[in-house]
Amino acid sequence: MSNTSATNAVNIEELSFSWAAQKPILYIPAWQVKQGETVLLRGPSGSGKSTLLSLLAGINTPQTGRLDLFETSFSSLSGRQRDRYRADNIGYIFQQFNLLPYLSALDNALLACQFSKMRQQRLAKQNISAQTSANQMLLRLGLSSEQIQQPAHTLSVGQQQRVAAARALLGAPKLLIADEPTSALDAEHRDTFIQLLLELSAQNDTTVIFVTHDAALSPYFDKHVELNELNQAGVQS
Ligand SMILES: Nc1ncnc2c1ncn2[C@@H]1O[C@H](COP(=O)(O)OP(=O)(O)OP(=O)(O)O)[C@@H](O)[C@H]1O
Ligand SMILES: [Mg+2]
Repeated sequence: MSNTSATNAVNIEELSFSWAAQKPILYIPAWQVKQGETVLLRGPSGSGKSTLLSLLAGINTPQTGRLDLFETSFSSLSGRQRDRYRADNIGYIFQQFNLLPYLSALDNALLACQFSKMRQQRLAKQNISAQTSANQMLLRLGLSSEQIQQPAHTLSVGQQQRVAAARALLGAPKLLIADEPTSALDAEHRDTFIQLLLELSAQNDTTVIFVTHDAALSPYFDKHVELNELNQAGVQS
């Protein structure tokens, strides 16, 4: 891979990870993602996509190797420092959304900012409150003003997923990680959703790593990565 002056959002070297006492499920000799790039990550079920995302988000840590995010040596931070880094810089849309069911759509979206002064400061720089920004984003994502006030559990799956996207994007994180967030959507909603997600990300120069099985989403992304081509765990004897 050519070495340009562009900052790497992700830099992985000789990373390995195993669950408990099992054999390594991931061994990635090298992988870089440039800042602002949008990457679609594919691979068969059980190949370790969600596991890799959990390392990128610092929910789990690699046993060996190096994982840098932007200029930070992420894999050498303490658990506490990683939590802080994630709150400030990483938006994560989970496979199962992880919304708080009895909070409104708006309050769910606002959660991201509650835990991060840095996200609040980024919004303050744009002269916008978290409340206003969350509202605007939810409206752009197609929720009505009534739905924005409703508890999350009363919303459809597609609506909940848009709330999860608003929560992840609020306060302009540097990295957006999405784990199959479109799997419950029909084709029309899926296309609108992905277009908006990428538009909002581009506005903030957010780097996007997006896992999906859906081949129809390929044209939207700068890069396509097959996990089995990165991951040499099965190749090792
Ligand atoms: N918390 C965990 N504890 C132990 N093993 C786990 C855990 N989470 C996942 N695994 C194992 O790691 C492997 C990879 O799982 P992972 O969820 O990363 O796959 P995936 O590529 O995201 O699959 P899918 O496309 O079905 O979501 C599987 O064999 C799974 O059993
Ligand atoms: Mg998965």
